[in-house]
Amino acid sequence: MAIFAISNHKGGVGKTTSTVNIGAGFALKGKKVLLIDLDPQANLTQSLGIKNPEISIYDNLRGEKNIIPIEVKKNLYVLPSSLDLSAAEIELNAEPGREYILRDIISKIKDRFDYILIDCPPSLGLLTINALTASNHVIIPLQAEFLPLKGLVKLNDVIEKIKNRLNPALNIIAVFLTQYDHRKVLNRDVSEMIKDFYGDKMLESKISSNIALAEAPSQGKDIFLYNKNCKGATDYKQLCEELLEKAGK
Ligand SMILES: Nc1ncnc2c1ncn2[C@@H]1O[C@H](COP(=O)(O)OP(=O)(O)O)[C@@H](O)[C@H]1O
Ligand SMILES: [Mg+2]
Repeated sequence: MAIFAISNHKGGVGKTTSTVNIGAGFALKGKKVLLIDLDPQANLTQSLGIKNPEISIYDNLRGEKNIIPIEVKKNLYVLPSSLDLSAAEIELNAEPGREYILRDIISKIKDRFDYILIDCPPSLGLLTINALTASNHVIIPLQAEFLPLKGLVKLNDVIEKIKNRLNPALNIIAVFLTQYDHRKVLNRDVSEMIKDFYGDKMLESKISSNIALAEAPSQGKDIFLYNKNCKGATDYKQLCEELLEKAGK
């Protein structure tokens, strides 16, 4: 059983797309997977075709309502988000043990799953801190469009602090490039620099820029359901295999 936080405080780098499709890829391999949508924008929830869920992760974080993962398809479940979640950063601030609220929720249901993937919001606030405190591994998707090293140093600092103060087991298991275009010199250059920064944490697998990955969510489908032969699907399939190997399974 392993818990992954998909995190990067920059928006639009492919966190949600990766959470959905890594989760779906693991599910296809026969693993039982839970996705947790921890972003108030609820992109993951919507991209799986779930509208106005009766119970959201916000209710659970407030200690209200039962924790009931919604089955999306075989082996794939989700705890959905809702817009209310934007209030959680402030509301939960006054709670004792505020960093551990998500960990407590997960502890009640984790026995039912092989893998849990948490889609983080584009910030390093209390929700992300909760995700990192509840996880074993961090996965960082990056865009190779420009050099984001300054942002990466900041993200590394937060992960390091959480490791020291709240969750000694936490580690960065994988960093990978999304929306990658090998024809672009800048993409190749940035890829080299990230490799220097992260070493063997950087995956060989890269996710190409592929329009199907942007289209699938509007149909409420993951990429394997939408078009299992497209480049996006083969990229995520390969990435899942590399990730499972790293996670030791
Ligand atoms: N590999 C890709 N190729 C093409 N479009 C992509 C790819 N990955 C993500 N996108 C699109 O880019 C946008 C941002 O991706 P998203 O996963 O929502 O990022 P984040 O969750 O980090 O904000 C979305 O519209 C998504 O459909
Ligand atoms: Mg997102």
